[in-house]
Amino acid sequence: MSPPATPKGAVAVEPRLVTVPDFLAAKERGTRLTMLTAYDCTMARLLDAAGVDALLVGDSLGMVVQGQPDSLAVTLDEMIYHTKIVVRGVRRALVIADLPFMSYQVSPQQAVENAGRLIKEGGAHAVKLEGGIRSAAAITAISAADIPVMGHIGLTPQSVRRLGGFKVQRDAERLLDDAKAIEAAGVFGMVVECVPTEIGKRITAAVKVPTIGIGAGSGCDGQVLVTPDLLGLFDEIRPRFVKQYADLGKAVKQAAEEYCREVRDGTFPGPEHSFK
Ligand code: KIV
Repeated sequence: MSPPATPKGAVAVEPRLVTVPDFLAAKERGTRLTMLTAYDCTMARLLDAAGVDALLVGDSLGMVVQGQPDSLAVTLDEMIYHTKIVVRGVRRALVIADLPFMSYQVSPQQAVENAGRLIKEGGAHAVKLEGGIRSAAAITAISAADIPVMGHIGLTPQSVRRLGGFKVQRDAERLLDDAKAIEAAGVFGMVVECVPTEIGKRITAAVKVPTIGIGAGSGCDGQVLVTPDLLGLFDEIRPRFVKQYADLGKAVKQAAEEYCREVRDGTFPGPEHSFK
């Protein structure tokens, strides 16, 4: 979806929020969807202004913001805080917040209550949770409460301990069963992570809701990346599916080194940065 443009000569109007029905319509029209992760207001503002359709407040924040080895320790209160500050920077994008590990697995009631907190306290427009058939009951309960839910199948990072690492998922029949189960349970879209291109295509053809791929090839209805990976701000792990579009890590280090040098040699602050 390209951002709504103001026609030449027309009075500029506020950009309209991307909605859940827009997501479904995009698949029908064959328009590819764009999604990136965001964890704070400043980055959300920049990504929103660039025309990204959806911002995911991902529990990947455990790794790329908190410096943990995986996302398992991220809490619901942390997700609410980060969702709140992302929403503040958004004028157009759909904001989807992750339900973190153990905030929806216990029971459908727990899932609805915690999805409700992400909406009411965090201001999220929709929530996302991981898992196929095993998460269908939670998805049904959350959708029944009128909260839009995005699914997440394939490599589900919250299952890292069971999977024994972040590995490509290749069981096509199980993945198709998972996709159909969460579609039937009511998701409005699903992230498909780390599966071979052919399986990504088969899942996309098998469901009516959009598939958003990450390491799932070009046959999905949209793509998502973890923003610090795309910007070159996080290099602890470099999955093959990441395309790095900028090297901000290098730029930040250079700028900080120059600042330290100038403070130490007395060049900064100069008269133009000082008050008379
Ligand atoms: O938490 C996250 O950033 C995600 C993406 C990998 C899709 O779930």
